[in-house]
Amino acid sequence: MKIHEANQAFWDASANWWREKEDKRGLWKKAHQDPSSVLSVSEMPFVKDVEAKKVCVLGSGDNEVAFALAGLGGHITSVDISERRLDIAAERADTLGLQLSFLQADVTDLSVLEDNVFDLVYTGGHVSVWISDIQKYYEEAVRILSVGGVFIVNEYHPIRRIWLDANGEHPHHDYFKRGPYTYTSDEGLPTFEYHWTVSDHIQTMVDAGCFIVKVDEHGTHIQDEFWMEVNLEKLPAYLMIVGEKG
Ligand SMILES: C[S@@+](CC[C@H](N)C(=O)[O-])C[C@H]1O[C@@H](n2cnc3c(N)ncnc32)[C@H](O)[C@@H]1O
Repeated sequence: MKIHEANQAFWDASANWWREKEDKRGLWKKAHQDPSSVLSVSEMPFVKDVEAKKVCVLGSGDNEVAFALAGLGGHITSVDISERRLDIAAERADTLGLQLSFLQADVTDLSVLEDNVFDLVYTGGHVSVWISDIQKYYEEAVRILSVGGVFIVNEYHPIRRIWLDANGEHPHHDYFKRGPYTYTSDEGLPTFEYHWTVSDHIQTMVDAGCFIVKVDEHGTHIQDEFWMEVNLEKLPAYLMIVGEKG
């Protein structure tokens, strides 16, 4: 898919920039010993019992959550489209003595992974915005999940995106216009972003074969939300949806 290839090129090209940012933040160094530094109070009840369980993190990026789940004893498969970001994460895991499997793949095509193998699939922290087909994304997530397994989506709340590119207090984008929104990165590369709505996330998870266990809008602040010009502190930061595969 050309759109995802373009996004992949952008994430590969910007991997070193993110590496420096993440090194300054320092969370990757402590997430495994202090999982609550990267997992919220809302997420914790659904991840605390991952000891010895098979866990897949989709769009793992900085791998802070993947490292936290490894620290909680999960056997982690960390999936990202960017080989460069995975290389950096693998180096860091080595430094920390953590054992994770790293897999370069597009979340809309996880065909190298078998059906019904994971106890937990986790995704979020600004992954869905890069995905052109939320149906395929969630279908793949649920396909690899075992029956009774848990699917956690903890995304930046979709309502925030309507203030992207706004320079006043009024929203700039139509909530229902999914995209693609085309941008040019600092590296001069095209990127394609999507604004999935709250009901897109929930209904797609149900259609993919989960029943909903929990929906929670939580937090008011997103760390490093440098792309947003407007103060959004009165809005929810995260939308968490937890499903169980039926
Ligand atoms: C903003 S990060 C979110 C992950 C993590 N919260 C973070 O901040 O690093 C987005 C990640 O999604 C990955 N990504 C984008 N499109 C993808 C796709 N189609 N399949 C798998 N990963 C993808 C990117 O490479 C990037 O690492």
